[in-house]
Amino acid sequence: MSVERIKKILGHLPTHIVLIGLCAIWLIPAFGLLITSLRPFQNINTSGWWTVLAAPRGSEEYSQTCASCHGSDGKAIAWADHTDPEVVQQYPRSIKLLAMLKQDHKGQPHLGDIPMPEPQQAADIADYLKRISGIEVRPRFTLNNYVDALMGYRGRNNYVTDCATGEQALDLNCDTSDLLNPRGMGRAFLNSLLVAIPCTILPIILASFAGYAFSWIHFRSRVWLFALLVGLQIVPLQMTLIPISRLYAQLGLNGTFLGIWLFHTGFGLPYAIYLMRNFLGSLPRDLFESAYLDGASHWTAFWRLALPLSVPALASLGIFQFLWIWNDLLVALVFLGGQKPVLTYQISNMVSSLGAGWHLLTAAAFISMALPMIVFFSLQRYFVRGMLAGAVKG
Ligand code: HEC
Repeated sequence: MSVERIKKILGHLPTHIVLIGLCAIWLIPAFGLLITSLRPFQNINTSGWWTVLAAPRGSEEYSQTCASCHGSDGKAIAWADHTDPEVVQQYPRSIKLLAMLKQDHKGQPHLGDIPMPEPQQAADIADYLKRISGIEVRPRFTLNNYVDALMGYRGRNNYVTDCATGEQALDLNCDTSDLLNPRGMGRAFLNSLLVAIPCTILPIILASFAGYAFSWIHFRSRVWLFALLVGLQIVPLQMTLIPISRLYAQLGLNGTFLGIWLFHTGFGLPYAIYLMRNFLGSLPRDLFESAYLDGASHWTAFWRLALPLSVPALASLGIFQFLWIWNDLLVALVFLGGQKPVLTYQISNMVSSLGAGWHLLTAAAFISMALPMIVFFSLQRYFVRGMLAGAVKG
């Protein structure tokens, strides 16, 4: 390797380190979220996701404090066999185990000269006892969170129902054919698609027409109309919620997809038109003029010239609009509410006010993250080019 190359690589090093750092900042939490979503909820509640690869604890503490009398396999005292579920069941938690260990046994301390285990050690020992007696054999990874989130989980009185094992299945809808039941994420996913796709495509189509008209068709008060449009961008969405929902109530549009399509399209348009006009207006003038000289109508110029050239702008507009609609809760809540729940609504419903079921958030968050990531990565080639679109020419 030549000195020149080494110099070059070293010169790029700081940039690379910064880039790797930036990637790590978002990749590590995303990775953690993925791991967490795949863990049984009892594990999520007791230890962090980074412990997945650590060996289950407790066996060392056990051999230090208990094995001298109970044997390393826990079977040495036959009537207190630690592999017998009936014995271990009495001490499901470290508190009970500690209380029992503190009691004297035939006038002697239970542990003899061995010091009492610390609370954390006792908890590990209690876990270990459960494992060797077979009361609780938990897999390290499970899809239960996903199953529960998709099937429409119902948490009652802080209990967590589990579709895969069927515990407390009384009130639970675990029918796989019922993936589209209104309480689950499956239906909400579909609803989100039904909202996000038209709400992305409609404004983009309309905005490319308008952007073309604003940049290449000469009509009266073009500048004033455009200025008005730019001004419309600053109207806060929240301000219009009440008037529009009253209007929708009169028209019977509340709780319908049509209503939310119109709303998002309306609010997406000003910025979309602004961006498309700037992009189309920055295309070379000669290109269009020679097309018109050759007798091309505006219609042909639009479809044959303007649209193919503005793919980067369309793609970046598409990404932004799609992400904004997909993550939107406010508008979906006001205009669709519980009638046609979308993902954001369903996720916020999944956690009860007491916090039960929050472990399902991990799975739910991942389900709702999946599509935006696919959209982003499939369109990211255009993204960087398109980001500059608005900046090229005013
Ligand atoms: C000094 C010896 C000794 C040590 C150390 C010891 N045990 Fe025991 N343990 C006994 C004896 C003896 C019994 C039987 C008690 C009886 O006869 O009811 C017993 C009984 C038990 C029982 C059954 C109690 C019941 O009545 O259901 C459990 C559970 C138990 N031990 C857990 C532990 C654990 C956990 C440790 C380690 C933290 C431990 N023991 C350490 C001697 C010991």
